[in-house]
Amino acid sequence: MKGTKRFDLDSYLGEKRQVINSALDRYLPEEDRYPQVLHKAMRYSVFSGGKRFRPILCVASFEASGGEGESILPVACAIEFIHTYSLIHDDLPCMDDDDLRRGKPTSHKVFGEAVAVLAGDALLSFAVELVLGEGARMSSLECTVRALRDIVRAAGLDGMVAGQVVDMESQGKQADERTLHYIHAKKSGALIASSARCGGIMAGADDEAVARLSDFGEKVGLAFQIVDDILDAEGRFGALKSGSELDRRKDKVTYPGVFGLARSKQITRDLISGAKDCVADTGVRGLPLMSLADLVINRSS
Ligand code: IPE
Ligand code: IPE
Ligand code: MG
Ligand code: MG
Ligand code: MG
Repeated sequence: MKGTKRFDLDSYLGEKRQVINSALDRYLPEEDRYPQVLHKAMRYSVFSGGKRFRPILCVASFEASGGEGESILPVACAIEFIHTYSLIHDDLPCMDDDDLRRGKPTSHKVFGEAVAVLAGDALLSFAVELVLGEGARMSSLECTVRALRDIVRAAGLDGMVAGQVVDMESQGKQADERTLHYIHAKKSGALIASSARCGGIMAGADDEAVARLSDFGEKVGLAFQIVDDILDAEGRFGALKSGSELDRRKDKVTYPGVFGLARSKQITRDLISGAKDCVADTGVRGLPLMSLADLVINRSS
């Protein structure tokens, strides 16, 4: 694997997960705060075993761009809060109608649909509050506002929400390649690309460097969703999802569905190789970024 020698990804992930988890815990209101059910629901989904891929990518991109210290944490955690909100809503009966997430009952199964919707809403607005509050206190206002604009665009009309709409509308239909690409690049790719860009933005990287991180993140983000669908198609999520859920997924527009497994795997390998080329100039500081890109195709959950 090019560019990832001499780097222990497992220790890196373990260390960064700990830092991210403790920051998420510190930022989130306690669950005994009124109204308790809302705070319980927010914490239930934030602490139910997420891999923390996006915040770790954001930190790795910050460090690859010369950033140091903890000032990236509010932005990295805000992205994880938005990701968590997107999953809570994605699982709702009106969307993917999933009973299990990471092997545990989904938010609406535990708290009811209304609280699940509201916990998602609260995570989104809390993410914005966190960046404008704690984030702006720790970094320049200019970087912070630029990063926040990037994140909310990627979460909304230029990304996740738009992609989810087309994902829903395309269910059960034949999709052309452009639509297939749109769905994947937007519903999952956009927030991952924003994570990579925001690391650079918060480190004060110049426009050219941020553009390279953007290309890197777009490729990694698209590959991430294709691999998610490959793992589904291969039944690798096993007990983490119920049989009826796995059946419903067959209606979705996916790369394995359109191109088959072998070609989808080749597409992800090409995307990751191209992504690594985008950040090849980051040298030793960029090793974690390179390894995170490889992790996308090597992961099994
Ligand atoms: C799941 O994302 C949803 C997709 C965009 C494919 P992750 O695989 O990052 O979910 P967690 O947070 O680690 O469970
Ligand atoms: C995830 O797409 C996209 C989101 C923005 C949440 P999926 O619907 O494929 O994600 P999983 O498989 O439920 O995690
Ligand atoms: Mg979905
Ligand atoms: Mg889903
Ligand atoms: Mg999926």
